[in-house]
Amino acid sequence: MTTTSESPPSERPGTDTSTPGGLPVDEPLPRDEPLPRDEPLPRDEPLPRDGFLWGVATSAFQTEGAPTSDWAQWKVVDAADQAVRLRGVGHHERTADDLDLVSELGLGGYRFSVSWSRVVPRRGEWVQDEVDRYADIAATLRRRGIEPVVTLHHFTAPAWLAEEGLDWTKEAFLEEFVAFATRMVKELCGTVRIWLTLNEPNVHAAGGYLAGMTPPGKFGLRAAHRALTNMLRAHARLYTVIHGSCPGAMVGITHNMLPFHPDRPGSFLDRWAAALLDRLYNRSVLEAFRTGRVTLRLLPFGRIAALPLVGRLDFLGVNYYTRAHVNFTEFHPRRPGYFWEDRSGRGLTETGWEVSPEGFADVLLTASSLGVPLVVTENGAAETDDDRKITYMRSHLEVVRRCRAAGLDIRGYFWWSLLDNYEWLIGLGPRFGLYHVDFTTLERTRTAAADELAAHAADRSATIPGDMGERSSTLTDS
Ligand code: FCB
Repeated sequence: MTTTSESPPSERPGTDTSTPGGLPVDEPLPRDEPLPRDEPLPRDEPLPRDGFLWGVATSAFQTEGAPTSDWAQWKVVDAADQAVRLRGVGHHERTADDLDLVSELGLGGYRFSVSWSRVVPRRGEWVQDEVDRYADIAATLRRRGIEPVVTLHHFTAPAWLAEEGLDWTKEAFLEEFVAFATRMVKELCGTVRIWLTLNEPNVHAAGGYLAGMTPPGKFGLRAAHRALTNMLRAHARLYTVIHGSCPGAMVGITHNMLPFHPDRPGSFLDRWAAALLDRLYNRSVLEAFRTGRVTLRLLPFGRIAALPLVGRLDFLGVNYYTRAHVNFTEFHPRRPGYFWEDRSGRGLTETGWEVSPEGFADVLLTASSLGVPLVVTENGAAETDDDRKITYMRSHLEVVRRCRAAGLDIRGYFWWSLLDNYEWLIGLGPRFGLYHVDFTTLERTRTAAADELAAHAADRSATIPGDMGERSSTLTDS
Protein backbone atom coordinates (compact mmCIF):
# COMPACT_ATOMS: atom_id res chain seq x y z
CA MET A 1 0.00 0.00 0.00
CA THR A 2 1.32 3.47 -0.81
CA THR A 3 0.24 6.84 0.50
CA THR A 4 -1.94 9.34 -1.32
CA SER A 5 -0.01 11.13 -4.02
CA GLU A 6 0.49 14.85 -3.34
CA SER A 7 0.94 15.90 -6.95
CA PRO A 8 -1.97 16.87 -9.22
CA PRO A 9 -2.99 14.29 -11.82
CA SER A 10 -1.31 15.99 -14.78
CA GLU A 11 2.10 15.84 -13.06
CA ARG A 12 2.01 12.16 -12.21
CA PRO A 13 4.47 10.14 -14.21
CA GLY A 14 2.99 8.13 -17.04
CA THR A 15 -0.13 10.25 -17.45
CA ASP A 16 -0.76 13.08 -19.86
CA THR A 17 -3.16 15.98 -19.85
CA SER A 18 -6.17 14.19 -21.27
CA THR A 19 -8.19 11.29 -19.98
CA PRO A 20 -8.63 7.95 -21.72
CA GLY A 21 -12.00 9.29 -22.82
CA GLY A 22 -10.07 11.93 -24.76
CA LEU A 23 -11.46 14.88 -22.81
CA PRO A 24 -9.19 17.60 -21.42
CA VAL A 25 -8.31 17.49 -17.73
CA ASP A 26 -8.58 20.83 -15.98
CA GLU A 27 -7.08 21.75 -12.71
CA PRO A 28 -9.55 21.09 -9.90
CA LEU A 29 -11.79 24.06 -9.31
CA PRO A 30 -11.10 26.12 -6.22
CA ARG A 31 -13.53 24.83 -3.63
CA ASP A 32 -15.37 28.14 -3.09
CA GLU A 33 -16.15 28.83 -6.74
CA PRO A 34 -19.64 27.97 -7.96
CA LEU A 35 -19.53 25.02 -10.32
CA PRO A 36 -20.63 25.68 -13.88
CA ARG A 37 -23.55 23.52 -14.94
CA ASP A 38 -24.54 25.21 -18.12
CA GLU A 39 -21.47 24.54 -20.26
CA PRO A 40 -22.32 22.67 -23.44
CA LEU A 41 -21.94 18.92 -23.21
CA PRO A 42 -19.21 17.35 -25.33
CA ARG A 43 -20.54 16.55 -28.77
CA ASP A 44 -18.83 13.18 -29.21
CA GLU A 45 -20.72 9.99 -28.47
CA PRO A 46 -20.58 9.08 -24.77
CA LEU A 47 -19.70 5.42 -25.46
CA PRO A 48 -18.18 5.18 -28.94
CA ARG A 49 -17.52 1.77 -30.41
CA ASP A 50 -13.86 2.52 -31.03
CA GLY A 51 -13.26 3.93 -27.56
CA PHE A 52 -13.01 2.42 -24.10
CA LEU A 53 -14.17 4.02 -20.89
CA TRP A 54 -12.06 3.18 -17.85
CA GLY A 55 -13.70 4.01 -14.58
CA VAL A 56 -14.41 3.34 -10.96
CA ALA A 57 -17.78 2.83 -9.25
CA THR A 58 -19.47 3.62 -5.94
CA SER A 59 -23.01 3.78 -4.59
CA ALA A 60 -24.55 6.44 -2.38
CA PHE A 61 -25.61 4.32 0.59
CA GLN A 62 -22.34 2.43 0.81
CA THR A 63 -20.21 5.55 0.91
CA GLU A 64 -22.39 8.27 2.46
CA GLY A 65 -25.01 6.32 4.45
CA ALA A 66 -28.66 7.40 4.43
CA PRO A 67 -30.42 8.20 7.73
CA THR A 68 -33.92 8.20 6.25
CA SER A 69 -33.55 5.12 4.05
CA ASP A 70 -35.00 1.65 4.44
CA TRP A 71 -31.47 0.36 5.10
CA ALA A 72 -30.86 2.71 8.06
CA GLN A 73 -32.65 0.42 10.51
CA TRP A 74 -32.49 -2.88 8.65
CA LYS A 75 -31.16 -5.64 10.97
CA VAL A 76 -28.76 -3.28 12.71
CA VAL A 77 -26.23 -5.29 14.70
CA ASP A 78 -24.88 -2.74 17.18
CA ALA A 79 -24.23 0.98 17.71
CA ALA A 80 -21.18 0.97 15.46
CA ASP A 81 -23.17 -0.67 12.68
CA GLN A 82 -25.95 1.88 13.19
CA ALA A 83 -23.47 4.74 12.87
CA VAL A 84 -22.22 3.40 9.57
CA ARG A 85 -25.76 3.18 8.17
CA LEU A 86 -26.05 6.90 8.85
CA ARG A 87 -22.73 8.17 7.52
CA GLY A 88 -21.25 5.36 5.39
CA VAL A 89 -17.53 6.05 5.13
CA GLY A 90 -18.01 9.79 5.38
CA HIS A 91 -18.33 10.52 1.68
CA HIS A 92 -21.10 13.07 2.18
CA GLU A 93 -18.79 15.27 4.24
CA ARG A 94 -15.70 14.49 2.18
CA THR A 95 -17.15 14.72 -1.29
CA ALA A 96 -14.64 17.25 -2.61
CA ASP A 97 -11.63 15.30 -1.29
CA ASP A 98 -13.02 12.03 -2.65
CA LEU A 99 -13.53 13.59 -6.07
CA ASP A 100 -9.87 14.58 -5.98
CA LEU A 101 -9.10 10.89 -5.44
CA VAL A 102 -11.15 10.06 -8.54
CA SER A 103 -9.21 12.68 -10.51
CA GLU A 104 -5.88 11.34 -9.29
CA LEU A 105 -6.60 8.01 -10.94
CA GLY A 106 -6.71 9.64 -14.37
CA LEU A 107 -9.68 7.50 -15.43
CA GLY A 108 -12.28 8.50 -18.00
CA GLY A 109 -15.42 7.74 -15.95
CA TYR A 110 -16.89 7.72 -12.45
CA ARG A 111 -20.06 5.83 -11.63
CA PHE A 112 -22.06 6.99 -8.60
CA SER A 113 -25.67 6.80 -7.48
CA VAL A 114 -28.11 9.40 -6.23
CA SER A 115 -29.84 8.77 -2.93
CA TRP A 116 -33.61 8.81 -3.23
CA SER A 117 -34.06 8.96 0.54
CA ARG A 118 -31.73 11.95 0.97
CA VAL A 119 -33.56 13.87 -1.75
CA VAL A 120 -37.07 12.81 -0.65
CA PRO A 121 -36.70 12.07 3.09
CA ARG A 122 -40.45 12.41 3.76
CA ARG A 123 -43.49 12.20 1.51
CA GLY A 124 -43.86 15.40 -0.45
CA GLU A 125 -40.46 16.86 0.52
CA TRP A 126 -37.72 17.64 -1.99
CA VAL A 127 -34.32 18.57 -0.60
CA GLN A 128 -32.80 20.76 -3.26
CA ASP A 129 -29.44 20.99 -1.43
CA GLU A 130 -28.97 17.26 -1.85
CA VAL A 131 -29.87 17.48 -5.53
CA ASP A 132 -27.44 20.38 -5.95
CA ARG A 133 -24.72 18.32 -4.32
CA TYR A 134 -25.17 15.53 -6.89
CA ALA A 135 -25.33 18.12 -9.67
CA ASP A 136 -22.08 19.61 -8.36
CA ILE A 137 -20.44 16.18 -8.34
CA ALA A 138 -21.43 15.66 -11.97
CA ALA A 139 -20.34 19.17 -12.95
CA THR A 140 -16.99 18.78 -11.19
CA LEU A 141 -16.36 15.51 -12.99
CA ARG A 142 -17.39 16.94 -16.33
CA ARG A 143 -15.13 19.94 -15.80
CA ARG A 144 -12.23 17.60 -15.09
CA GLY A 145 -12.91 15.57 -18.21
CA ILE A 146 -14.35 12.60 -16.31
CA GLU A 147 -17.62 11.17 -17.64
CA PRO A 148 -20.22 11.01 -14.84
CA VAL A 149 -22.21 7.76 -14.95
CA VAL A 150 -25.31 8.09 -12.77
CA THR A 151 -27.29 5.24 -11.23
CA LEU A 152 -30.79 6.36 -10.30
CA HIS A 153 -31.55 3.43 -8.00
CA HIS A 154 -28.93 1.42 -6.17
CA PHE A 155 -30.93 -0.81 -3.79
CA THR A 156 -32.11 1.70 -1.17
CA ALA A 157 -35.41 3.60 -0.91
CA PRO A 158 -36.87 6.15 1.51
CA ALA A 159 -38.08 4.59 4.77
CA TRP A 160 -41.42 6.43 4.58
CA LEU A 161 -42.45 4.27 1.65
CA ALA A 162 -41.91 1.13 3.71
CA GLU A 163 -43.83 2.70 6.58
CA GLU A 164 -46.75 3.22 4.16
CA GLY A 165 -46.51 -0.45 3.19
CA LEU A 166 -45.08 0.31 -0.24
CA ASP A 167 -42.32 -1.55 -2.04
CA TRP A 168 -41.50 -2.69 -5.57
CA THR A 169 -44.45 -5.09 -5.61
CA LYS A 170 -46.80 -2.07 -5.61
CA GLU A 171 -47.72 0.24 -8.47
CA ALA A 172 -47.69 3.25 -6.13
CA PHE A 173 -44.03 2.63 -5.31
CA LEU A 174 -43.17 2.49 -8.98
CA GLU A 175 -44.95 5.81 -9.53
CA GLU A 176 -43.03 7.43 -6.67
CA PHE A 177 -39.73 6.19 -8.05
CA VAL A 178 -40.46 7.30 -11.59
CA ALA A 179 -41.49 10.74 -10.30
CA PHE A 180 -38.26 11.08 -8.29
CA ALA A 181 -36.05 9.78 -11.09
CA THR A 182 -37.73 11.97 -13.72
CA ARG A 183 -37.03 15.06 -11.67
CA MET A 184 -33.42 13.99 -11.04
CA VAL A 185 -32.89 13.38 -14.74
CA LYS A 186 -34.09 16.89 -15.54
CA GLU A 187 -31.80 18.32 -12.85
CA LEU A 188 -28.70 16.45 -14.05
CA CYS A 189 -29.25 16.38 -17.79
CA GLY A 190 -26.99 19.35 -18.40
CA THR A 191 -23.94 17.40 -17.25
CA VAL A 192 -24.79 13.68 -17.36
CA ARG A 193 -24.91 11.65 -20.57
CA ILE A 194 -24.63 8.05 -19.32
CA TRP A 195 -27.47 6.78 -17.17
CA LEU A 196 -28.15 3.54 -15.33
CA THR A 197 -31.78 3.38 -14.35
CA LEU A 198 -31.39 0.61 -11.76
CA ASN A 199 -28.62 -1.41 -10.21
CA GLU A 200 -29.03 -5.18 -10.41
CA PRO A 201 -32.81 -5.69 -10.41
CA ASN A 202 -32.13 -9.43 -10.21
CA VAL A 203 -30.15 -9.09 -6.98
CA HIS A 204 -32.74 -6.73 -5.50
CA ALA A 205 -35.60 -9.07 -6.45
CA ALA A 206 -33.73 -12.11 -5.10
CA GLY A 207 -32.45 -10.55 -1.86
CA GLY A 208 -35.43 -8.39 -0.94
CA TYR A 209 -38.39 -10.29 -2.36
CA LEU A 210 -37.48 -13.95 -2.89
CA ALA A 211 -35.17 -14.68 0.04
CA GLY A 212 -36.21 -11.91 2.46
CA MET A 213 -32.61 -11.08 3.31
CA THR A 214 -32.66 -7.38 2.43
CA PRO A 215 -35.38 -4.71 2.63
CA PRO A 216 -38.33 -5.06 2.36
CA GLY A 217 -37.70 -8.66 3.54
CA LYS A 218 -40.37 -10.44 1.51
CA PHE A 219 -40.38 -14.12 0.63
CA GLY A 220 -41.53 -15.88 -2.50
CA LEU A 221 -41.38 -16.16 -6.24
CA ARG A 222 -44.61 -14.22 -6.68
CA ALA A 223 -43.28 -11.17 -4.82
CA ALA A 224 -39.94 -11.45 -6.64
CA HIS A 225 -41.68 -11.59 -10.00
CA ARG A 226 -43.83 -8.55 -9.25
CA ALA A 227 -40.84 -6.61 -7.95
CA LEU A 228 -38.68 -7.51 -10.94
CA THR A 229 -41.48 -6.65 -13.34
CA ASN A 230 -42.07 -3.27 -11.73
CA MET A 231 -38.35 -2.46 -11.72
CA LEU A 232 -38.14 -3.26 -15.42
CA ARG A 233 -41.32 -1.29 -16.05
CA ALA A 234 -39.66 1.68 -14.32
CA HIS A 235 -36.67 1.19 -16.59
CA ALA A 236 -38.86 1.21 -19.70
CA ARG A 237 -40.56 4.44 -18.64
CA LEU A 238 -37.33 6.15 -17.66
CA TYR A 239 -35.74 5.17 -20.94
CA THR A 240 -38.33 7.32 -22.69
CA VAL A 241 -38.06 10.10 -20.12
CA ILE A 242 -34.25 10.30 -20.41
CA HIS A 243 -34.22 10.27 -24.19
CA GLY A 244 -37.00 12.86 -24.22
CA SER A 245 -35.09 15.20 -21.92
CA CYS A 246 -31.40 14.57 -22.60
CA PRO A 247 -30.40 14.51 -26.27
CA GLY A 248 -27.53 12.12 -26.99
CA ALA A 249 -27.93 10.21 -23.71
CA MET A 250 -27.05 6.51 -23.35
CA VAL A 251 -29.42 4.59 -21.09
CA GLY A 252 -28.53 1.25 -19.54
CA ILE A 253 -29.20 -0.92 -16.53
CA THR A 254 -26.75 -3.02 -14.53
CA HIS A 255 -27.14 -6.77 -14.37
CA ASN A 256 -25.32 -8.93 -11.84
CA MET A 257 -24.23 -12.11 -13.56
CA LEU A 258 -23.23 -15.27 -11.75
CA PRO A 259 -22.41 -18.46 -13.63
CA PHE A 260 -23.87 -21.51 -11.86
CA HIS A 261 -21.91 -24.74 -12.17
CA PRO A 262 -23.26 -28.15 -11.18
CA ASP A 263 -21.42 -29.31 -8.07
CA ARG A 264 -21.23 -32.83 -9.53
CA PRO A 265 -21.22 -32.41 -13.31
CA GLY A 266 -22.23 -36.07 -13.71
CA SER A 267 -25.42 -35.51 -11.71
CA PHE A 268 -28.51 -34.76 -13.76
CA LEU A 269 -30.15 -33.12 -10.73
CA ASP A 270 -27.21 -30.80 -10.06
CA ARG A 271 -27.19 -29.83 -13.71
CA TRP A 272 -30.94 -29.20 -13.61
CA ALA A 273 -30.64 -27.02 -10.48
CA ALA A 274 -27.73 -25.05 -11.96
CA ALA A 275 -29.65 -24.47 -15.19
CA LEU A 276 -32.71 -23.38 -13.24
CA LEU A 277 -30.75 -20.84 -11.22
CA ASP A 278 -29.08 -19.61 -14.38
CA ARG A 279 -32.51 -19.07 -15.94
CA LEU A 280 -33.93 -17.31 -12.90
CA TYR A 281 -30.94 -15.21 -11.98
CA ASN A 282 -29.05 -14.46 -15.20
CA ARG A 283 -31.36 -15.06 -18.11
CA SER A 284 -34.70 -13.68 -16.92
CA VAL A 285 -33.48 -10.09 -17.28
CA LEU A 286 -31.72 -10.72 -20.61
CA GLU A 287 -34.85 -12.47 -21.91
CA ALA A 288 -37.01 -9.58 -20.77
CA PHE A 289 -34.99 -7.16 -22.91
CA ARG A 290 -34.91 -9.61 -25.81
CA THR A 291 -38.60 -10.51 -25.85
CA GLY A 292 -40.44 -8.00 -23.67
CA ARG A 293 -41.59 -10.83 -21.39
CA VAL A 294 -40.61 -11.07 -17.74
CA THR A 295 -40.65 -14.72 -16.73
CA LEU A 296 -39.69 -16.03 -13.32
CA ARG A 297 -40.88 -19.58 -12.86
CA LEU A 298 -39.76 -22.98 -11.71
CA LEU A 299 -41.86 -24.95 -14.15
CA PRO A 300 -42.46 -24.30 -17.86
CA PHE A 301 -45.70 -22.46 -17.10
CA GLY A 302 -46.54 -19.65 -14.71
CA ARG A 303 -46.06 -15.95 -14.35
CA ILE A 304 -45.23 -13.88 -17.40
CA ALA A 305 -45.59 -10.12 -17.72
CA ALA A 306 -45.38 -8.27 -21.03
CA LEU A 307 -43.47 -4.98 -21.02
CA PRO A 308 -42.26 -2.51 -23.68
CA LEU A 309 -38.58 -3.35 -23.18
CA VAL A 310 -37.45 -4.37 -26.64
CA GLY A 311 -35.22 -1.62 -28.05
CA ARG A 312 -35.15 0.23 -24.75
CA LEU A 313 -31.55 -0.48 -23.78
CA ASP A 314 -28.61 1.42 -25.24
CA PHE A 315 -26.05 -0.70 -23.40
CA LEU A 316 -26.00 -3.39 -20.76
CA GLY A 317 -23.96 -2.88 -17.60
CA VAL A 318 -22.47 -6.19 -16.49
CA ASN A 319 -21.53 -6.59 -12.82
CA TYR A 320 -19.35 -9.63 -12.25
CA TYR A 321 -17.44 -10.93 -9.23
CA THR A 322 -17.46 -14.72 -9.06
CA ARG A 323 -19.04 -18.02 -10.09
CA ALA A 324 -21.07 -20.41 -7.92
CA HIS A 325 -21.55 -24.18 -7.57
CA VAL A 326 -24.98 -25.75 -7.20
CA ASN A 327 -25.92 -28.92 -5.39
CA PHE A 328 -29.46 -30.22 -5.87
CA THR A 329 -29.72 -31.87 -2.48
CA GLU A 330 -29.23 -28.52 -0.77
CA PHE A 331 -31.54 -26.78 -3.20
CA HIS A 332 -34.65 -24.90 -2.16
CA PRO A 333 -36.02 -21.75 -3.80
CA ARG A 334 -35.73 -19.81 -0.57
CA ARG A 335 -32.28 -21.16 0.20
CA PRO A 336 -31.02 -21.94 -3.24
CA GLY A 337 -28.14 -24.19 -2.28
CA TYR A 338 -25.35 -22.53 -4.14
CA PHE A 339 -21.95 -22.06 -2.63
CA TRP A 340 -18.43 -20.90 -3.32
CA GLU A 341 -15.42 -23.14 -3.28
CA ASP A 342 -11.94 -22.83 -4.72
CA ARG A 343 -12.16 -25.21 -7.64
CA SER A 344 -9.94 -23.29 -10.04
CA GLY A 345 -6.94 -23.06 -7.73
CA ARG A 346 -7.02 -19.26 -7.83
CA GLY A 347 -8.34 -19.03 -4.30
CA LEU A 348 -11.24 -17.24 -2.63
CA THR A 349 -11.43 -13.52 -1.97
CA GLU A 350 -12.12 -12.20 1.54
CA THR A 351 -15.86 -12.33 0.91
CA GLY A 352 -15.37 -16.06 0.30
CA TRP A 353 -16.01 -15.76 -3.43
CA GLU A 354 -14.10 -17.95 -5.85
CA VAL A 355 -11.74 -16.10 -8.18
CA SER A 356 -12.91 -17.15 -11.63
CA PRO A 357 -11.93 -15.10 -14.66
CA GLU A 358 -13.26 -18.01 -16.72
CA GLY A 359 -16.71 -17.27 -15.32
CA PHE A 360 -16.29 -13.65 -16.38
CA ALA A 361 -15.69 -14.74 -19.97
CA ASP A 362 -18.80 -16.94 -19.78
CA VAL A 363 -21.06 -14.12 -18.63
CA LEU A 364 -19.68 -11.60 -21.11
CA LEU A 365 -20.40 -14.06 -23.88
CA THR A 366 -23.92 -14.68 -22.57
CA ALA A 367 -24.56 -10.95 -22.15
CA SER A 368 -23.30 -10.20 -25.65
CA SER A 369 -26.10 -12.34 -27.08
CA LEU A 370 -28.43 -9.43 -26.34
CA GLY A 371 -26.80 -7.51 -29.18
CA VAL A 372 -26.27 -4.22 -27.36
CA PRO A 373 -22.90 -2.76 -26.31
CA LEU A 374 -21.62 -3.96 -22.96
CA VAL A 375 -19.97 -1.95 -20.21
CA VAL A 376 -18.48 -3.73 -17.22
CA THR A 377 -20.11 -1.52 -14.62
CA GLU A 378 -18.67 -3.44 -11.64
CA ASN A 379 -15.82 -5.88 -11.21
CA GLY A 380 -13.69 -6.17 -8.12
CA ALA A 381 -12.37 -8.19 -5.24
CA ALA A 382 -12.34 -7.72 -1.47
CA GLU A 383 -8.68 -8.19 -0.64
CA THR A 384 -6.56 -6.62 2.05
CA ASP A 385 -3.48 -7.86 0.24
CA ASP A 386 -2.80 -5.58 -2.73
CA ASP A 387 -0.98 -8.25 -4.67
CA ARG A 388 -4.02 -10.49 -4.59
CA LYS A 389 -6.28 -7.63 -5.60
CA ILE A 390 -3.97 -6.77 -8.50
CA THR A 391 -3.81 -10.40 -9.62
CA TYR A 392 -7.61 -10.48 -9.69
CA MET A 393 -7.73 -7.21 -11.62
CA ARG A 394 -5.18 -8.33 -14.20
CA SER A 395 -6.77 -11.68 -14.83
CA HIS A 396 -10.18 -10.07 -15.32
CA LEU A 397 -8.82 -7.32 -17.55
CA GLU A 398 -7.20 -10.02 -19.61
CA VAL A 399 -10.65 -11.53 -20.11
CA VAL A 400 -11.97 -8.17 -21.30
CA ARG A 401 -9.04 -7.89 -23.69
CA ARG A 402 -9.62 -11.36 -25.12
CA CYS A 403 -13.36 -10.87 -25.42
CA ARG A 404 -12.83 -7.61 -27.28
CA ALA A 405 -10.28 -9.29 -29.50
CA ALA A 406 -12.87 -11.97 -30.22
CA GLY A 407 -15.26 -9.25 -31.36
CA LEU A 408 -17.43 -8.65 -28.29
CA ASP A 409 -18.59 -5.05 -28.13
CA ILE A 410 -17.34 -4.09 -24.66
CA ARG A 411 -17.01 -0.35 -24.25
CA GLY A 412 -15.85 0.18 -20.71
CA TYR A 413 -14.62 -1.28 -17.45
CA PHE A 414 -15.42 0.09 -13.99
CA TRP A 415 -13.67 -1.24 -10.92
CA TRP A 416 -15.72 -1.72 -7.77
CA SER A 417 -14.88 0.37 -5.83
CA LEU A 418 -13.19 3.75 -5.35
CA LEU A 419 -13.15 3.36 -1.56
CA ASP A 420 -13.50 0.57 0.95
CA ASN A 421 -17.14 0.92 1.94
CA TYR A 422 -20.19 -0.59 3.60
CA GLU A 423 -20.93 -3.98 2.09
CA TRP A 424 -24.66 -4.67 2.30
CA LEU A 425 -25.03 -7.85 4.34
CA ILE A 426 -21.54 -7.84 5.77
CA GLY A 427 -20.93 -4.28 6.95
CA LEU A 428 -17.52 -2.65 7.17
CA GLY A 429 -14.97 -5.33 6.49
CA PRO A 430 -14.56 -6.30 2.86
CA ARG A 431 -12.00 -4.05 1.23
CA PHE A 432 -12.97 -3.53 -2.40
CA GLY A 433 -11.43 -0.05 -2.56
CA LEU A 434 -8.65 1.34 -4.68
CA TYR A 435 -8.27 3.61 -1.66
CA HIS A 436 -7.96 1.97 1.72
CA VAL A 437 -10.25 3.55 4.32
CA ASP A 438 -9.32 3.54 7.98
CA PHE A 439 -12.77 2.79 9.40
CA THR A 440 -12.01 4.69 12.62
CA THR A 441 -10.43 7.91 11.34
CA LEU A 442 -11.96 7.60 7.82
CA GLU A 443 -8.56 8.49 6.40
CA ARG A 444 -8.09 7.39 2.80
CA THR A 445 -4.82 5.89 1.56
CA ARG A 446 -4.02 5.09 -2.02
CA THR A 447 -3.21 1.44 -2.68
CA ALA A 448 -1.06 -0.26 -5.29
CA ALA A 449 -4.29 -1.49 -6.94
CA ALA A 450 -5.09 2.16 -7.70
CA ASP A 451 -1.71 2.53 -9.40
CA GLU A 452 -2.38 -0.65 -11.36
CA LEU A 453 -5.78 0.44 -12.72
CA ALA A 454 -4.44 3.93 -13.46
CA ALA A 455 -1.56 2.40 -15.43
CA HIS A 456 -3.90 0.25 -17.53
CA ALA A 457 -6.10 3.25 -18.25
CA ALA A 458 -3.13 5.44 -19.13
CA ASP A 459 -1.89 2.88 -21.65
CA ARG A 460 -3.55 4.19 -24.82
CA SER A 461 -2.95 0.97 -26.72
CA ALA A 462 -5.27 -0.68 -24.19
CA THR A 463 -8.17 0.95 -26.02
CA ILE A 464 -7.41 -1.01 -29.18
CA PRO A 465 -9.37 -4.25 -29.33
CA GLY A 466 -7.15 -7.25 -28.94
CA ASP A 467 -4.09 -5.29 -27.95
CA MET A 468 -3.31 -4.17 -24.45
CA GLY A 469 0.16 -3.12 -25.56
CA GLU A 470 3.15 -3.87 -23.41
CA ARG A 471 0.98 -4.79 -20.47
CA SER A 472 -0.52 -7.75 -22.27
CA SER A 473 2.41 -10.03 -21.41
CA THR A 474 2.03 -9.31 -17.70
CA LEU A 475 -1.68 -9.89 -18.01
CA THR A 476 -1.33 -13.32 -19.55
CA ASP A 477 1.05 -14.41 -16.81
CA SER A 478 -1.40 -13.70 -14.04
C1 FCB B 1 -22.81 -5.65 -6.07
C2 FCB B 1 -23.43 -4.34 -5.66
C3 FCB B 1 -22.45 -3.34 -5.10
C4 FCB B 1 -21.43 -4.01 -4.19
C5 FCB B 1 -20.83 -5.23 -4.85
C6 FCB B 1 -19.77 -5.91 -4.01
O1 FCB B 1 -23.78 -6.64 -6.18
O2 FCB B 1 -24.04 -3.73 -6.77
O3 FCB B 1 -23.17 -2.35 -4.45
O4 FCB B 1 -21.97 -4.27 -2.95
O5 FCB B 1 -21.85 -6.14 -5.17
